[in-house]
Amino acid sequence: MKVGVVGTGHVGLPTAATLAHVGHEVMATDADGDKIDLLHRGGMPFFEPGLEELVRAGVEGGRLRFTADPPGALREAQVAFLCVGTPPRASGEANLIAVEQSADLVGRHATGPTVVVEKSTVPAGTAARISEILARHRSDGQLSVVCNPEFLREGNAVEDSLRPDRILVGSDSDEALAVMRELYAPLVGEGTTWIETDLQTAELAKHASNAFLALKVSFANALARIAEAAGADVEAVTEVMGADPRIGKAHLSAGLGYGGSCFPKDLLAFERLTSRLGYDFPLLREIARINQEAVDAAFRKVEEVLWNLEGKRVALLGLAFKPGTDDIRYAPALGLADQLLEAGAAVAGYDPQAGPNAKAELPGLEVIDDPYVALSGADAAVVCTEWDEIKALDLGRVREVMRLPIVVDGRNMFDSAKMAEHGFTYLPTGRPPVRP
Ligand code: UGA
Repeated sequence: MKVGVVGTGHVGLPTAATLAHVGHEVMATDADGDKIDLLHRGGMPFFEPGLEELVRAGVEGGRLRFTADPPGALREAQVAFLCVGTPPRASGEANLIAVEQSADLVGRHATGPTVVVEKSTVPAGTAARISEILARHRSDGQLSVVCNPEFLREGNAVEDSLRPDRILVGSDSDEALAVMRELYAPLVGEGTTWIETDLQTAELAKHASNAFLALKVSFANALARIAEAAGADVEAVTEVMGADPRIGKAHLSAGLGYGGSCFPKDLLAFERLTSRLGYDFPLLREIARINQEAVDAAFRKVEEVLWNLEGKRVALLGLAFKPGTDDIRYAPALGLADQLLEAGAAVAGYDPQAGPNAKAELPGLEVIDDPYVALSGADAAVVCTEWDEIKALDLGRVREVMRLPIVVDGRNMFDSAKMAEHGFTYLPTGRPPVRP
């Protein structure tokens, strides 16, 4: 099938490459011409494991093309994916201008029957607005909207796209549903649940899924605070909980909390939506409050152990919001760096991928691409992202280069007994501290 993709970000690019991989003819476009230039030169606009190879294979096979000219991507598209950003406004509401503009582009330039796919995360009711925009351009009933929310995770985007656990298609049109079934047929494997709903149900299901996952993370983080006060071990508590299949293990790791381009903004937008719909949902605000508390708790640990922070040096191990990405949007590490800098500390950060992005976002942060150099002379280190490169650090060497052997573990990556053996003061999250 001929597929047009508007937006080549964390959702659009894996979507385009995956659809090309299974044999469709995909043309992707982006309002950012530099990004398209970069893709033409074989570069990648962000780091995502396995994506570069998938894109290259698509381009070399002639099924994946990029263009800076949106009409070129949309004119012949049988299916047009809208994969544009929906960042938060100051009110928390999702800013849907890019969705509106890309729907307008499809309305103006698509020539045949086209299924317009809302892939970006949007509040319930958005598809109806997209239909209005499309109807302004064409009244022949040939443009129909479906909601097909993305469930891929950054850092696992290729795997999640090639082997999806669920594909959700919301639609009010039998013809559009038939097109979507044909489009996705090669991707529906044994482990895939295919779900069809109406439009607003699909939109709501996406917000509900992300909010519920964020709830699990915040529940674990609240438990961490309680475990610290009670002298219990939150890892063991969540292991017990997760062994109940009704609860499940996933997204119950206590730590510095969630970041990224999805949970923080989706939670806010969902809260704004529920309130606009007349339902007060304070639980959503509470999830966000507990998430902030997780970063504050790590800051307080550093402050408690170092006393005054002026002139002290703190090393942050990991800057990305999670491992496997160079994405630093709403990264807890940067929130913590902000607080430490504000308190007068010098902050050095190491990350296997996200260093340049972090530096651009927070110029006061010293970014160093060797972890041992970042740790040299540090009065304390805080583990912020659970990268394998950090887990593999030589603890003896870490102990040697630091000025004071103090590690605050915001991701519970290290073994307390080993940290004690190496003489560290080790302050994990929701687990008993080690103090030599
Ligand atoms: C999330 C969802 O998991 C995807 O299903 C969804 O498609 C995506 O948002 C989206 O809406 O586009 P993502 O933001 O890539 O994916 O990352 P997650 O793996 O869900 O992690 C989110 C944050 O929660 C990260 O900062 C992670 O470190 C944190 N987290 C996750 C925890 O602190 N504890 C956990 O147990 C799990």
